[in-house]
Amino acid sequence: MNDNVLKDSENREYVAVPVSQFKADKVLCADIYLHINEKFIKFKHEGDELESEKIDYFIEKNIKDIYVLKDNLIKVIEWLKNMRQEVIQEVVEEVGEEYVETVEKTENIREKVLDTFADLELDSGVVELLQDQVDDFIEHIQTEKIPSSIIAKLTSHSDSMADHAMNVANVSLYISLLLGHGNGEVLSKLYMGALLHDYGKMKIPKDVLENKQNLKYNQAIQDHPKKGSKIASKIPDVPAEVIKIIEQHHEQFNGNGFPEGLKNNAIFGLAKIVQIANVFDNAVFENKHKPKKEKYRAALKVLDYDNGKQFDPDLIKKISEGMWLAYGHMYKPPSKDNA
Ligand SMILES: [Fe+2]
Repeated sequence: MNDNVLKDSENREYVAVPVSQFKADKVLCADIYLHINEKFIKFKHEGDELESEKIDYFIEKNIKDIYVLKDNLIKVIEWLKNMRQEVIQEVVEEVGEEYVETVEKTENIREKVLDTFADLELDSGVVELLQDQVDDFIEHIQTEKIPSSIIAKLTSHSDSMADHAMNVANVSLYISLLLGHGNGEVLSKLYMGALLHDYGKMKIPKDVLENKQNLKYNQAIQDHPKKGSKIASKIPDVPAEVIKIIEQHHEQFNGNGFPEGLKNNAIFGLAKIVQIANVFDNAVFENKHKPKKEKYRAALKVLDYDNGKQFDPDLIKKISEGMWLAYGHMYKPPSKDNA
């Protein structure tokens, strides 16, 4: 938060608060404003919720700051702190009090992800900060020996693009631990690639993304992996592995994916992991109105159903039991008869 105070024509004073500090779906403690064309426009009233779609709208429009009246600043800062605690507590309830530091670290990453997405362009300074947080998190889970079952539970139930990126990163990390990957550098690259996998989609207007009838929809979807990898490749220090993950996260084992239609071993191994995690989290999202248990089981069934089609059967064989254990609360997938 900066101390820059801006005034409107009626001499009311406003202060900027970074969008990344706001949590989705929480009831606002004060009116919030956008600063557009030198004017302050009331965007939401006190008592309204800031829905996750609105956070995505800020990303799409490159809005990094929201404004509040200076008189409300102290109240807002206190409220932001409480909301952050509330979000952390929701996950801590799932994983246990002893992992509060792990959860705090993922919340720091989520805020940096939102900062990264809300920039007009991918900013190398912001990406570097994100990379530092990711490296710190991977080092933390390795030195503290955080169990993989805890990593699996670091998923958010909000559905903004930043939360989807976090979910895909944590599910990817869990999958890679199931596969026995233990190299910190590799895990860091995987995590970073998963966070940025849909970067090429961030600035596509919502009316295109949400309307499959829109003529531009197909092209925009087809283009987003290459668009994202091209943007990321311009940033110094983004590893080649991260760029490959972004480019190949929609390739499929049987060659029916895009943009290249690569098959089996032509697909980069880390991209295969992110592809599975991405399909999994999207399936959870598609079933979001179902009770928690059911939506996760529906997503797990997609992994079984598409085994050998979009997913590498070797990978599914190695991770299926662990995925059902973490998300389906059972050791083995139910047999086809009673599924
Ligand atoms: Fe994508």
